[in-house]
Amino acid sequence: MIVTIDGPAGAGKSTVARKLAAKLGFDFLDTGAMYRCVALSGSRQNVDWEDEAALGEIARSLPLEFDGARVLLGGEDVSAAIRTPEVTAIIHYAADNLMVREAMVDLQRKLAAEDNVVTEGRDQGTVAFPQAECKFFLSASAEERARRRVEQLRQNGKQASLEEVLEQQTVRDEQDEAREVGGLKAAEDALYVITDGMKPFEVVEHLERLVRIRM
Ligand code: C5P
Repeated sequence: MIVTIDGPAGAGKSTVARKLAAKLGFDFLDTGAMYRCVALSGSRQNVDWEDEAALGEIARSLPLEFDGARVLLGGEDVSAAIRTPEVTAIIHYAADNLMVREAMVDLQRKLAAEDNVVTEGRDQGTVAFPQAECKFFLSASAEERARRRVEQLRQNGKQASLEEVLEQQTVRDEQDEAREVGGLKAAEDALYVITDGMKPFEVVEHLERLVRIRM
């Protein structure tokens, strides 16, 4: 079974998707981490961001592994390095690149081929897994999402102001929504869940109930 969770930055998708996967005994796929790894690799290799083929090649041969909650790139734990504001600021080069998107969707389908999976991102219910049995679109107000991101960064040992995060988030929402291929959009058959005022465990319980009805 495939459960997709799409939605804007900071809607709590990662936390919720990870916990939901654990409760259901499913694998968890963080597809934002994949695009972040492409951007980080491009930056480290000083890629010319205008050279779409070069970044596409990096994506196709990305030495990416998931080890529980850890993201490994060529064996190095990059879980914190991919979530810095610097990487967030360049992520659009990876996300806008059609070769990168194709490579990432291929990889996502490969990773989901054998097991039950909860996958989260922007295009999981629309592009990567249109046949998924259960699709959610998770959102929350811009302010609440920014507050959550600040807290997440703090937990990773990074300081950021609410204003800075909100500004970056607004830019990213606009970029994610405007993207022609793989843009942020709810699938027609997705269930909308607005998480303002809800604790992560409440969202998880709500989604779990809905998934179990469909199992
Ligand atoms: O979810 P996260 O904030 O880590 O995603 C980082 C960025 O990667 C998003 O803003 C979006 O531009 C891109 N992304 C995407 N498609 C996905 C997941 C993430 O384009 N399925």
